[in-house]
Amino acid sequence: MARGLHALRAVVLGSAAGGGFPQWNCRCAACALAWKGDPRVVARTQSSLAVTTDDQAWVLLNASPDLGAQIRAQSDLWPREAPRHSPIAAVVLTSAEVDHVTGLLHLRERQPFRLVALQPVHDVLEKNGIFDVLAHDMVERIIVRQHQPFAIAAGVTVELTPTPGKVPLFMEEEDPALASEGGETAGVLVRSRGRQLAYVPGCADLTPSLLSELGRADAVFFDGTLFTDDEMIAAGVGAKTGRRMGHVPISGAGGSLEAFCTLKGRKIYTHINNTNPILVEGSAERRAVETRGIEIAYDGMEVRL
Ligand code: MLT
Ligand code: MN
Ligand code: ZN
Repeated sequence: MARGLHALRAVVLGSAAGGGFPQWNCRCAACALAWKGDPRVVARTQSSLAVTTDDQAWVLLNASPDLGAQIRAQSDLWPREAPRHSPIAAVVLTSAEVDHVTGLLHLRERQPFRLVALQPVHDVLEKNGIFDVLAHDMVERIIVRQHQPFAIAAGVTVELTPTPGKVPLFMEEEDPALASEGGETAGVLVRSRGRQLAYVPGCADLTPSLLSELGRADAVFFDGTLFTDDEMIAAGVGAKTGRRMGHVPISGAGGSLEAFCTLKGRKIYTHINNTNPILVEGSAERRAVETRGIEIAYDGMEVRL
């Protein structure tokens, strides 16, 4: 589309939670359908969103472990000039979870871009020597402060807003604080020409202040990890509730489905765990979401604002 016809264009590179869908070692009900090739489900890679305002420069929101394949599948992200080039101008990180940062290792071939995150997320990367493959003279680390809009391109700002959550799973100790709003996990607000998109793949609790921020967005991509808080326990694949993992469930009291009725913009679930029955077309859970006007992200989905 020609420049000027939209303020923001977003492409879902991946829509699954950590592990992807189907997950390599899983045969839960939904994964079993996927392994069988049942047409009611489609495979999904691990979550990431690509955003642009001019189709030239792109900003990635999180870098999924599947990023190499995601770039190969999305021609907008292919190099356009010899010998080396990338339209990926920046990567914004919402947390240091494995499924949000390991894709950075796909971007290590001395290509300049900006890496934007809150201090706690940069700290995790700095402490982990493997991320030094992103040469400091090529990849500019930008530490933004929470709630401070940062001009990431001409006329485009990103703002990181902490969401209730915890340290990454691989850094958890005995009893991690579960509702920290210290910036270990955040949502991204992208603004361009009066339009606003929110990307919140991890959120343990929908607080009134977060809900009112999301209420100002024209489109909200939100944590759709689990339909039911105890879904992984019930499926026999885990011992933790969604809330304990840092993910507010879709259903039930205090769930996102109930809270989202008040939001006016487009609402789209992403970061969907492979156990979540909303992955199955025609399921009661999927209908419960769709009848409330909430969409379910899929790889390749585009949103134009
Ligand atoms: C999560 O979203 O809870 C994390 O991605 C867990 C993980 O490390 O897979
Ligand atoms: Mn995750
Ligand atoms: Zn599964």
